[in-house]
Amino acid sequence: MSRYVIRGGNRLEGTIRVNGSKNAVLALLPACLLSEGTCVLHDVPKLSDVYWMLQVLKHLGADVDMRGSVVTVEGKGITQNEVPNSLACRIRASNLVLGPMIARCGWGKVAYPGGCSIGSRPMDEHLRGLKQLGASLTEKHGFIEGSAKQLTGNEIYLDFPSVGATENLMMAAVLAQGNTLIHNAAREPEVVELQNFLCAMGAKIKGAGTSGIAVEGVRSLGGAEHRVIPDRIEAGTFLTIAAATRSDVVVSNVILEHVEAVVAKLREFGTKLNIYENNEIRVRQTKRLRGVDCKTMPYPGFPTDMQAPFMTLMSLADGVGVMSETVFENRFKHVDELARMGANIRVEGRAAVVKGVKSLSGACVMASDLRAGAALVAAGLAAEGITEIDGVHYIDRGYEALDHRLREIGGDIVRI
Ligand code: EPZ
Repeated sequence: MSRYVIRGGNRLEGTIRVNGSKNAVLALLPACLLSEGTCVLHDVPKLSDVYWMLQVLKHLGADVDMRGSVVTVEGKGITQNEVPNSLACRIRASNLVLGPMIARCGWGKVAYPGGCSIGSRPMDEHLRGLKQLGASLTEKHGFIEGSAKQLTGNEIYLDFPSVGATENLMMAAVLAQGNTLIHNAAREPEVVELQNFLCAMGAKIKGAGTSGIAVEGVRSLGGAEHRVIPDRIEAGTFLTIAAATRSDVVVSNVILEHVEAVVAKLREFGTKLNIYENNEIRVRQTKRLRGVDCKTMPYPGFPTDMQAPFMTLMSLADGVGVMSETVFENRFKHVDELARMGANIRVEGRAAVVKGVKSLSGACVMASDLRAGAALVAAGLAAEGITEIDGVHYIDRGYEALDHRLREIGGDIVRI
């Protein structure tokens, strides 16, 4: 198993480019199953989560090809309808093929999904919505099976603005008979991205980005070509690393609107940020930051995926800040690892009280999930001495060649 070895203390300098959005791609790839044509996606990041989603599509019979950052999917040859546990357990997003499979083939069977252990991550919202669209669903032996001769449009109210449930139901509704309204829908940019891609394929959807999404069912979808939006969480991670290491870094290929909550919070910490018209943000940090409170919320609030990296920032700031995690019920696994590096954090339920310390010290730590890994990389780059991070395969899920890209701006980080 690979690990990172980081010697902290370098001031980073230079420009780091944000890659295509992992979470957008993990919705766009299942959407290709709805089409009998050819779909082409540009700026797809080379990530293990993307690799496993491509394996899922291949297993279902789609023709899949990835050259560089371009992915081509031919959806016409679907022969299989079942995603086995060996594949489904690899990523959470494997559950997003259920809606498309029921819509396209009349039935689909998916083992319960895997993904980062950040909470129970049930699928009740997905299943309740699919039932309201006319699917019959059975759950047994760790599998979910759904079938419907023809899905029919309906009015659906989500209890929670779940990103995955919104995406699954959008994809099921596009081939349903009649109209569907999804209320309390997730407003994340990745949901807007999915609407844009599906409409390019011939779907009739509007309202993504708001909490009400209207879908008018059509008979079939064609192929489409699409460039994936930049990854807003990768952008936020790089901005946070630059602030934590008091560096001078330009983060390029950012959609400014998608990172507004993160930029606002960084400014509250006292981060010096310049925003340029050409989709670049420059962090020039020399002074120590001051701790402020943070609360994760569904978009457009402060993103839960930035909670762990921000915990590192709070640990290095003056004063006390409280981080409230309102989206996932068990997403503080990085706290114990940061404590091994000298952080002073007390977890009280879904809140963590973080008291800034003068500096962190290098230690051997373990990444427990993707964003916890990013937090530990930020901590290692800012700490005094050497940090070794095990569990780099978690980081590979969401950050392509992270060590290489950080070395290019002066980070002393190697992969063993
Ligand atoms: C997506 O996960 C992202 N993953 C997550 O990013 C992100 O943290 C999350 O949205 C929230 O923004 C992908 O897009 C592949 P949810 P998803 O359904 O769709 C509960 C990362 O690090 N819930 O919005 O699984 C759930 O338990 C990953 O890139 C139900 O209760 O998130 C959670 O507490 C981590 N029932 C909350 O809603 C359901 O049926 C948010 O989940 C579905 C969800």
